[in-house]
Amino acid sequence: MGATIIDGKAIAKEIRAGLAGRVECLKQSGVSPGLAVVLVGDDPASQIYVRMKEKACRELGITFFRHCAPTAVGENYLIDLVKELNADARVHGILVQLPLPAGLNPFTIVKQISAAKDVDGFHPENVGRLCTGVGGGFIPCTPAGILKLLEISAVPISGARAVVIGRSNIVGRPTAMLLLHEHATVTICHTRTVNLAEECRRADILIAAAGSPRLVTGTWIKPGATVIDVGINRLSDGRLVGDVAFDEAAAVAGKITPVPGGVGPMTIAMLMSNTVLAAERSLASRGAVAESEA
Ligand code: GUN
Repeated sequence: MGATIIDGKAIAKEIRAGLAGRVECLKQSGVSPGLAVVLVGDDPASQIYVRMKEKACRELGITFFRHCAPTAVGENYLIDLVKELNADARVHGILVQLPLPAGLNPFTIVKQISAAKDVDGFHPENVGRLCTGVGGGFIPCTPAGILKLLEISAVPISGARAVVIGRSNIVGRPTAMLLLHEHATVTICHTRTVNLAEECRRADILIAAAGSPRLVTGTWIKPGATVIDVGINRLSDGRLVGDVAFDEAAAVAGKITPVPGGVGPMTIAMLMSNTVLAAERSLASRGAVAESEA
């Protein structure tokens, strides 16, 4: 194995530790940060992810509000719930765990979340802020975590060829946007891409977010490239693997993230970061209102 391992678990731990002081500061100013998570249905992976988010909140002193609803819940119930959470001053961040059960349109629900509490960065206002580069919104957690890993690992982005496999709204598209803002030459690949292997071989930075176990093999990787594996796939024997065939990829790549312990912990750390930021912004806007009334 030639590649340096990018230790997402250790980096995420440092980021969370860095947030503790900001949580303390908020509490001293009378604001106790709160995150509300809406979990619909009984998808086992979503249940695990929500539990991990709850644990991270508890460790940081962020209040966690869990709202569960059955698979057959109506759209109107969820919209009303989101509106209640928008109005709840104890809640600074709102997250609707995806995917939603079939029949529920995620856009219909997510666009009801107040953009100022949309710590997932999925509301159209925040998507627009990201795509235009206007800023001031929230950046989706997994893409923000990927960029942080590249930054901390001192991977040059400006001028680099970046290939993103996957065009989802959660990972692929926003990651491509962030890389573009950092001046990479970005190619987004997907299920209709012709000769995916050839596209990948051109990448200095390869982001695998296809949701396909061990899709990317060693021969797809440019020697010395940085490989970020976003995949979390459960094999029939219970093993957890990424979208990259790790051993053969690590023999060719310069830097690589493992699964587990790479991107996954970063997603949660960035969610905590966005929640703290949402609470800080609410405090600042409270101050601004007081000033305008003085
Ligand atoms: N499902 C998988 N990743 C995510 C995420 O980052 N946010 C939400 N809300 N659901 C997800």
